[in-house]
Amino acid sequence: MAFRDGALLVVLGLCLLYVKSSEANADVEHNNRHDLIVKLMEVHNKLVIPRTPVQLSFGLVMRAIEDVDEKANILRISVFSDMAWSDHRFQWDPANYSGIYSVSLPLNSVWRPDLVPSYAKIEEEHVTVAAFVDGTVRSYVPQRLSIPCSFDFNDYPYDVHTCDLKFQSWTHSGNRINLTIIDETAASLTYHRDNSQWEILSFKATRTATTYPCCPNEEYIDVSYRIQFKRTVGEYQVRVVTPSIITSLLILVCFLIPPLSGGRMVLCSVVILGLLLQLAILNLTVPIRGPNAPFMADFLCFSVFLAFFAAIESVVSMNLSSWGSLSGSGNNNGDASKDGEELVAQPKPNLFLMQLARIIDLVCFVVFTVVFAIGGAIILNPKTE
Ligand SMILES: *[C@@H]1O[C@H](CO)[C@@H](O)[C@H](O)[C@H]1NC(C)=O
Ligand SMILES: *[C@@H]1O[C@H](CO)[C@@H](O)[C@H](O)[C@H]1NC(C)=O
Repeated sequence: MAFRDGALLVVLGLCLLYVKSSEANADVEHNNRHDLIVKLMEVHNKLVIPRTPVQLSFGLVMRAIEDVDEKANILRISVFSDMAWSDHRFQWDPANYSGIYSVSLPLNSVWRPDLVPSYAKIEEEHVTVAAFVDGTVRSYVPQRLSIPCSFDFNDYPYDVHTCDLKFQSWTHSGNRINLTIIDETAASLTYHRDNSQWEILSFKATRTATTYPCCPNEEYIDVSYRIQFKRTVGEYQVRVVTPSIITSLLILVCFLIPPLSGGRMVLCSVVILGLLLQLAILNLTVPIRGPNAPFMADFLCFSVFLAFFAAIESVVSMNLSSWGSLSGSGNNNGDASKDGEELVAQPKPNLFLMQLARIIDLVCFVVFTVVFAIGGAIILNPKTE
């Protein structure tokens, strides 16, 4: 019994010792880390650029298209800005600091390259950077970019857009900050979150070094990104294209309804209203005026005019038919009319006028079909011209 108790005590004691020693190790590491950071930050001044040339590699990782503001011509994306640069002040011997090979520091407490995008507006999170034992500093900052783009909606809703984005150091030439792309797949789509309305077609980076005549020894380096994206068509097909075409086709049906039927004018009016409604809906999403306006808008305006002429033709043909059906046979030859007889004479329909109305309808149907087909083809397929 005593022996077992003793063994238990020894085991417990060993465990306690182990816990104590690992606690002690953790304390040592903690103290070392503290000393290291204090020592590093003692000499670090974030206003002073490290030993030049600073080797800076830069990459953007696409997270998502957040918003495409079609009216304001702004593309909003969220990205990770991935930067690694050399700063000789972050160097230490890990053997002196319990093997610590990296420390995390707040982004705004260390020097960072003054890389800015031209034109685009930038919002970023305040995160930490990692400084490594060899003097490399790596930052991976979530950013939100608002990029002004000129969108071309001509092919709406099959439109493809391209936006450009350029990063360069605000004040330093290539001799002081050597900007390079982090690797060939720098414009990465790996972490890209899908957007239900937009699909990214490509995201490419290029590095350009420019020398100006004033200073032949100095290179100015920039990294440009080109984003190409398109609308995912499915929903627009249902919401915009099909209703517009169906409404426009109803114009032709107008001519097939008998002229004396009241439904004809009703249909014409409904078609005009429907087309105007489609235009208004289109105007909610994209600008429908200007050189970049969708051809879809031209098509709808053109259809409104056709429907307007169809309404006028309906009035003409309705009047012809009703004259035809009301005018008596007596009107045809003057001498046949006698006193008294005209009152009792049953008015015989004037077949000629009624047939004329039908013929005008048919001719209009054919002409409108041809105009509609040609006009629609030209407006919606301008590239074939
Ligand atoms: C770091 O350790 C080396 C030997 O490993 C020693 O020569 C040096 O003085 C130490 N530096 C500091 C700052 O303690
Ligand atoms: C800049 O970086 C590139 C690629 O790493 C290298 O070839 C070039 O020599 C560097 N230029 C300077 C001035 O350090």
